[in-house]
Amino acid sequence: MNQNAIEQAVNHYRELLLAQIDRAEKMNNVSAPEKKDKTVIGVVGGDGIGPIITLQAQRALEALLKDEIQAGAIEIRAIEGLTIENRLAVGKAIPDDVLAAIKECDVLLKGPTTTPSGGELLESANVALRRELDLYANVRPVCVPEEGIDWMFFRENTEGEYTLGSKGIEIPGLLTMDFKVTTVAGTRRIARAAFEYARKNGKTHVAIVTKSNIMKKTDGMFSVLCREIAAEYPEIQADEYFIDIMSANLLKTNMRGTLQVFVMPNLYGDILTDEAAQIQGGVGTAGSANTGDRYAMFEAIHGSAPRMIARGMGDYANPESILRAAVMLLRHIGMPDKAAKLAAAIDAANKTSPITGSKEGATCAQFGDAVIAAL
Ligand code: IPM
Ligand code: MG
Repeated sequence: MNQNAIEQAVNHYRELLLAQIDRAEKMNNVSAPEKKDKTVIGVVGGDGIGPIITLQAQRALEALLKDEIQAGAIEIRAIEGLTIENRLAVGKAIPDDVLAAIKECDVLLKGPTTTPSGGELLESANVALRRELDLYANVRPVCVPEEGIDWMFFRENTEGEYTLGSKGIEIPGLLTMDFKVTTVAGTRRIARAAFEYARKNGKTHVAIVTKSNIMKKTDGMFSVLCREIAAEYPEIQADEYFIDIMSANLLKTNMRGTLQVFVMPNLYGDILTDEAAQIQGGVGTAGSANTGDRYAMFEAIHGSAPRMIARGMGDYANPESILRAAVMLLRHIGMPDKAAKLAAAIDAANKTSPITGSKEGATCAQFGDAVIAAL
């Protein structure tokens, strides 16, 4: 056995542990942001179909917010450079100048970014943004009114398997190890977000989704802390489900209508929200909010679709998911009426200019035109 490799791995682990302890301690000392007169909405196109679909959402926002933009209360600011080419060139998940520009904004509308998988150690830009802006709540609604589905997912967004996902250990030729991290403060704040949402929206049930029978430490603590927070909301029933059976439950028609709000660690939330979005009509139909105490980022739930670009079909990409994200953004900045208007316009465009992903359907730009016409 290579003693040197073991020594290196142990030292690496020690550094990770110290850094995570530091992060956990810092989480206890966050202050609320000061109020500002102007809201800056940063628009980040991303990779692949990202810039194509994001452009349509930007047009819709510009049309809806025309007066506020003119009055200087809102600025829509394009932020260039969060591309896979740039990120590989500087070897960083988010180039420094791009991150600085992003931090000057209050909210972000972001197209999908490409993540190299496996061997390439470049971290996902999404994961890095969620961490850098401390966007701890990934909030994803899924609605299918005709089936009685009105779900809201609260996925923990900064911890779990993700936080050290690019920092695993390898003993070459023998084994690899990744790490899952759950902090007390990180769990309490996501649980609080879910139960507060439930209370404010008259929901009576929260499902806590874990695999605490197997992941004893991390999910075990997540489960205990969620139940502690639940005790402060006696009007809300909280039940714990394991992720495997919950994945099955989403497909059970007699179960769907009884589920309302979900709270879960990062990876389970990633998987379960894709499944839920598929029930709604596909991952292309869902929007996603990433919120923290200072910043918020709104994005499509799907990826950058490199295969679609390779087939020369980028112009036929469906902008619905990023448009739904723009609806959430409007609600977040306190404009529920404009949000409802945009949601209705997306529904209308789905009728007049449906996207099929093939040349028989509308193009992304035609769909965008239909949305603007319906506003
Ligand atoms: C999502 C995506 C991201 C994630 C990827 C692109 C890093 O799948 O937002 O669900 O895994 O969180
Ligand atoms: Mg996902």
